[in-house]
Amino acid sequence: MSVPQLVIAARVQAALSAAFGPSYADADPVIRPSQFADLQANVALPLAKKLGRKPREVAEEIVANLDTADVISEVQVSGPGFINLTLSDGWIAARTQQALGDERLGVPAADKPQKVVVEYSSPNVAKEMHVGHLRTTIVGDAIARILAFLGHDVIRDNHVGDWGTPFGMLIEHLLDLGEDAAARDDSSVSDLTAFYQAARGKFEADAAFADRARARVVALQAGDPETLRLWGILVEVSKRYFNHVYRRLGVTLTDDDIRGESFYNDLLATTVAELESKGIAVVSDGALCAFPPGFTGREGEPLPVIIRKSDGGYNYSTTDLATIRYRVDTEHVDRMVYVVGAPQSLHFQMVFAVARMAGWLGDDVAAVHAQIGNVLGTDGKILRTRAGGTVKLSELVDEAVERAGAAFDEIPHDESFDAATRAAIVEAVGVGAVKYADLSVALDSEYVFDFDRMISFHGKTGPYLQYATVRIRSIFRKGGVDPESATGPIVIGHEAERALALKLLDFGAVVAQAGETCEPHRLAGYLFELAQAYTGFFENCPVLKAPDEPTRASRLALCAATLRTLATGLDLLGVPTPERM
Ligand code: ARG
Repeated sequence: MSVPQLVIAARVQAALSAAFGPSYADADPVIRPSQFADLQANVALPLAKKLGRKPREVAEEIVANLDTADVISEVQVSGPGFINLTLSDGWIAARTQQALGDERLGVPAADKPQKVVVEYSSPNVAKEMHVGHLRTTIVGDAIARILAFLGHDVIRDNHVGDWGTPFGMLIEHLLDLGEDAAARDDSSVSDLTAFYQAARGKFEADAAFADRARARVVALQAGDPETLRLWGILVEVSKRYFNHVYRRLGVTLTDDDIRGESFYNDLLATTVAELESKGIAVVSDGALCAFPPGFTGREGEPLPVIIRKSDGGYNYSTTDLATIRYRVDTEHVDRMVYVVGAPQSLHFQMVFAVARMAGWLGDDVAAVHAQIGNVLGTDGKILRTRAGGTVKLSELVDEAVERAGAAFDEIPHDESFDAATRAAIVEAVGVGAVKYADLSVALDSEYVFDFDRMISFHGKTGPYLQYATVRIRSIFRKGGVDPESATGPIVIGHEAERALALKLLDFGAVVAQAGETCEPHRLAGYLFELAQAYTGFFENCPVLKAPDEPTRASRLALCAATLRTLATGLDLLGVPTPERM
């Protein structure tokens, strides 16, 4: 609940207990936004039913016991028994002032800090990242930032796909090209898509190569040192590429956060043994499987989680089970958030179910799959290149930045920029546009990747929000005022000031809720509403040319509070905010 809701709820509860006895002290006062006032308390309706009285009468009685002092300026009973409540301007001003003076802008720190693993990005080694990874990377990073800001102990975990059968052919292909090719950034190894496809092509066309590749997989799994060394080269090349993408996107992941599938390799055998000894894993058609209850196929047949294939090899699921066991037993986490594509939903449900059967996931540990919806092209189909291939993430960002340049040249500027400064701003606009577009839709909905819509300085976009912060900064620059020194006092004199201040007071609740539900789009939507409230204020309330000094100081303080809230919120989303545009 927002600050106004919390305060009003407490007052109504006090009135309930004064009117009907102390057992009502923590009854739900049913606080809702109201069309006719700021808030509405609707508790009189359910309560009247319980008491066998008329709801209006009950409402009147609550109002008679309501302490309005300092907080509420108007109370009205309307309709069948709604209590409409208007907050006093003085209270709104004082609370906004308090938030402005607070380092955390009124965002409460979690009462019970948790140890949370946020697993995200998780691209595959020796493969180009695609738009699906773009979205899990951006959304996951925002979730990690928000949870950390709320005071949780966040473990960022990049579960890269760095193990498995494809490495046989990849290593053999590397040997064919020569190892030193991997050291050069412009080599045939660094172009990961081409490298992977070439290896695959040879594997399919050349029987001798395929035999070498298979023998290499065996050597890799047996821990042959030379094979592991070659494998390490491929991992290094990929990390270089991932880091390049992360730095460009302003994603907080580092090498220290990488804990790939290979990390769990040594834990697989004991994980499987425990599942066998607990009678959870049984042999079915030669493979070792678990059948979590409640998962059935089309004909009602139980669906297996394959733990060990008939050839003795372990599976993607085996690694995920070992991962859960490790996180709970060794890292003692309270919560695991998997930011992974929605198509893997069944996989995670079944893996979680098996982990619960094995007792690795108890009631005290939450495991959540934050399902990331598919990214679609403007034709409504999964985003592909014109030739039908997967879209490379780097090319997508390049295009966004190029288009951001064109949009940037069309907006009004207070000053002109040299080429390097312009390039840096345009890069931030392009990246910010892509990130905000990704974050502003509910994470599990599919979304249409549409450059024209996301790179616009109008509407619910990253550039619009970035520009809003720049416009506020420019007021301070023009007035020769340091935003830090704009401390008010805040007074509410105009409807638009009131609306802006009330929006500012919602920030803490929005961040807390975005963290609780792992839904950054709530914050993204809020920031847009805040920028709109600011526009309403800016159009109606002259700041530097305010009619008198107390008004000017108050409006500058409202500008400062808005700027800090927007900048903090955008930073929690990982959207960069250039200082000038
Ligand atoms: N590497 C996988 C992919 O690119 C995603 C891994 C998701 N995480 C997991 N624990 N299974 O699809």
